[in-house]
Amino acid sequence: EKTGTAQIGVVGMAVMGSNLARNFASKGFKTAIFNRSYAKTAAVLEAHPEAEFVGSESVEEFVDSLEKPRRIIMMVKAGPATDATIETLIPFLDQGDIVIDGGNTYFPDTRRREKMMAEKGFNFIGCGISGGEEGALKGPSMMPGGPKESYAHVGPILEKVSAHYDGEPCCTWIGTDGAGHFVKMVHNGIEYADMQFIGEAYDLLKAVGVSAAEAADIFAQWNTGDLDSYLIEITSEVLRQVDAETGKPLIDVIHDAAGMKGTGTWTVQEALNLGVPAAAIAESVFARAASSAADLRKAAQGALSGPDGTVQVDDKEAFIEDVRQALWSAKVIAYAQGLHLIKVAGQEYGWDIDVAACARIWRAGCIIRAKLLDRISNEYAAGNLETLLEAPSIAQGLSDANTSWRRVVAKATEAGVPIPGFASALSYYDLVRAERTNAAMTQGLRDFFGSHTYRRIDKEGTFHTNWSGDR
Ligand code: NAP
Ligand code: ATR
Repeated sequence: EKTGTAQIGVVGMAVMGSNLARNFASKGFKTAIFNRSYAKTAAVLEAHPEAEFVGSESVEEFVDSLEKPRRIIMMVKAGPATDATIETLIPFLDQGDIVIDGGNTYFPDTRRREKMMAEKGFNFIGCGISGGEEGALKGPSMMPGGPKESYAHVGPILEKVSAHYDGEPCCTWIGTDGAGHFVKMVHNGIEYADMQFIGEAYDLLKAVGVSAAEAADIFAQWNTGDLDSYLIEITSEVLRQVDAETGKPLIDVIHDAAGMKGTGTWTVQEALNLGVPAAAIAESVFARAASSAADLRKAAQGALSGPDGTVQVDDKEAFIEDVRQALWSAKVIAYAQGLHLIKVAGQEYGWDIDVAACARIWRAGCIIRAKLLDRISNEYAAGNLETLLEAPSIAQGLSDANTSWRRVVAKATEAGVPIPGFASALSYYDLVRAERTNAAMTQGLRDFFGSHTYRRIDKEGTFHTNWSGDR
């Protein structure tokens, strides 16, 4: 009697899937649930009778319980598990059914799967989802990509369960095939940079004698201004946490080696593939790698000397304000690099991505949600920007913060505080605004040793110089 009754089906009853299913149900959608091993489905059915889920033990029963064309969202482990799940669904699907992959899938996999499913007459949507467990339950930021026609059938449901900012859903169609997962990947790359910069800012506060508790207040204060964002808000909470065992600030007893699951690395690999400069994001991935390279750090610690990381300042308050300005500036550069990567990828892969829309759906629900994103989406919507940095309000903001940013980089460098993110972001700023780069030297050298030729500034054509003359 449950045949064809459910409006949406969720596969994968781990943390994300079960919370997303509850979200669908709470918004009034009849929701079917399924998990490879039935125990998880049973547990969810028992824990949440209020959701009135339609639970099934077999895939066939699950698929049959959905109204046609079917809408199925998978929240399973990315990679082979996702392929395996698709294979189990296929025998029971009908033409026109829609399968959505909500996992953290690497976008080339989505391109491959979308093509394979389209050949069989099925619609496949790769949907990046951000917001963790709480987002899944209360409203995540959603980045769906796939056949546009099929979005008309699932979009309204996804938009209803997504986070909202000023009444607008944080979900919109991103582009064809892998576009949604690509945008989610870049979201994570920006997230890596945001966190690296926050770490550098805290290091600099410590370098002028600020305690963890004082820093918690400073971040809370920063969160009331231009830096207003989820990550700055929780930084304050992390800094305020006291370790019950030692009585020390918890941050001081956390092992200083960062792990990673790969999405930041993918972002940088893709930037390299497409030739898009994204060094500030890359530095944040490398900083995590360096933190975890225990043998490298041990060997270097034993051999290298330098200043002890204490920053000497006359006016501590003024320096703290400089750090705030540097943090804001670096953050803007990371967004600029990430959004530029999205723009170029959109052209390269034929996705025609609306960059303003990407920034718009990141305003709530996701980890990088920030007040700044409202301004960024407005700037992109107002003009066809090549880079965020040319937007008038952004360029002005960076100009106003420039002296502070440079002072922070100079002071940190002098004192031996590692700031790969702040410094790289500043170099990018100077590199892209420079009238002439040092690449003329590179071209000269390439022509010298490999006859690679060069172009001239004053006439058309390619040139080669006989560098050694008659020797
Ligand atoms: P997860 O641990 O990544 O995945 C567990 C689910 O995958 C279970 O339903 C499991 O079924 C299924 N699964 C695992 N191996 C399988 C296989 N070989 N064949 C078929 N199914 C298999 O769960 P999660 O943390 O809820 O995440 C779900 C997805 O959302 C992932 O792609 C994740 O990257 C993404 N995501 C996670 C977050 C987050 O904050 N955690 C945020 C956004 C997106 P069994 O119970 O039968 O093993
Ligand atoms: P969201 O965008 O909703 O936060 P996510 O992209 O899956 O979800 O992950 C966000 C953060 O949680 C990332 O920092 C991610 O790890 P990486 O920084 O190494 O990429 C982390 N994360 C996600 N899934 C995780 C898991 N299963 N175990 C540990 N950390 C995880």
